[in-house]
Amino acid sequence: MAEVVIVPDRVTAGGLVADEIAALLRRRPDAVLGLATGSTPLPVYQALRARLEGVDTSQVRGFALDEYIGIDPAHPESYSSVIAREVVEPLGLDPALIRTPPADDPDIATAGERYDDAIRAAGGVDIQILGIGTDGHIGFNEPGSSFASRTRVKTLTRQTREDNARFFDSIDEVPRHCLTQGLGTILEARHLVLLAFGEGKAAAIAGAVEGPVTAMVPGTAIQLHPHVTVIVDEAAASKLRLDQYYRDTFDNKPAWQGI
Ligand code: PGA
Repeated sequence: MAEVVIVPDRVTAGGLVADEIAALLRRRPDAVLGLATGSTPLPVYQALRARLEGVDTSQVRGFALDEYIGIDPAHPESYSSVIAREVVEPLGLDPALIRTPPADDPDIATAGERYDDAIRAAGGVDIQILGIGTDGHIGFNEPGSSFASRTRVKTLTRQTREDNARFFDSIDEVPRHCLTQGLGTILEARHLVLLAFGEGKAAAIAGAVEGPVTAMVPGTAIQLHPHVTVIVDEAAASKLRLDQYYRDTFDNKPAWQGI
């Protein structure tokens, strides 16, 4: 089962994940990071900054989960811009080694296949950071997405577009389509780390961690993966039935295990 870690706040969550990533990069300077966008992973990137001081990050490779279609890549809210601003620049990574799904590819129908090939050629993702949508999506795999899906074009739900309207001047500016890693692609990463904060994510987290596995809640795909860490604050954990068990497990965990 997923390891569930309930933390007091986002800063603590960010620190836990950053410790894990920093340890990975010290062991393997050319590790492959699975990068997520949105508000959720920001505390991880912020915490990583301090931990990577003095660490050579020039060989780090990375693949983002998804990208909007129909937005100028130079738009500040395109995910390639977000990754450049929040990850590549502050952590001193080589931009040539960090990729986002090429949503401006003129051959968009096959662009996803080439992205999956590039992930495979890199040896696969070592640690995949994930957020979860209020509708249960991971990446932009909206409800109904196949667990076998690969990187491909998806249509965003109205709920996702409303949730993401805060990054734009109005909902009309939120793109309707995206190129997203599939659930099958995400499940190939060696370690999944799913973060969620706030009451608005409580139902999605309870569904993903403890609900029946169903394509209607794409986050339930994590139950099919052998190494998953779910890190949530108290509010996002508030609908978990086994919360006391998760707390006992984490409190009594051997220190050598990490997350
Ligand atoms: P958020 O988005 O981190 O901005 O809440 C999460 C997601 O949609 O996956």
